[in-house]
Amino acid sequence: MLNDIDGEGFKMSLRDAALSVRENAYAPYSGFKVGAAIVGADGQIYGGVNVENVAYPEGTCAEAGAIAAMVAAGIQSLTEVYVVADSPEPVPPCGGCRQKLAEFGAVDVKVTLATVDGTEHETTVGDLLPGAFEIYHMSP
Ligand code: THU
Repeated sequence: MLNDIDGEGFKMSLRDAALSVRENAYAPYSGFKVGAAIVGADGQIYGGVNVENVAYPEGTCAEAGAIAAMVAAGIQSLTEVYVVADSPEPVPPCGGCRQKLAEFGAVDVKVTLATVDGTEHETTVGDLLPGAFEIYHMSP
């Protein structure tokens, strides 16, 4: 469990949670494992990994997995995001994940992009997706 690793209420850091869950990524085609950890409005950490598929477009990103875990637990907003991969520089979330993060995170929510070596780049949900499509755009 990300929130209770030793059974005594120990809280993992968001980075440790993302690094730990990343180990479980299913990435046999790209070989590129990604781990995402988000903090839900309940203060709990939810993890996700990329899950690839032999039919390549059916693969899903780590951020999507973390959001799905949070929503499945009954929480519908997030307050922080951490994404980590073994990459020469912190990997920016894909366009689809930016839209997914914007669905559940306010514009000022902190997003940390990181490498396994420890390089971090801090940004926000709003900076990742300026001009996001929102519900009010569907008003007549
Ligand atoms: N990937 C993620 O999981 N999150 C990102 O932010 C960028 C890309 C995954 C998708 C695919 O399994 C692999 O990385 C290579 O694109």
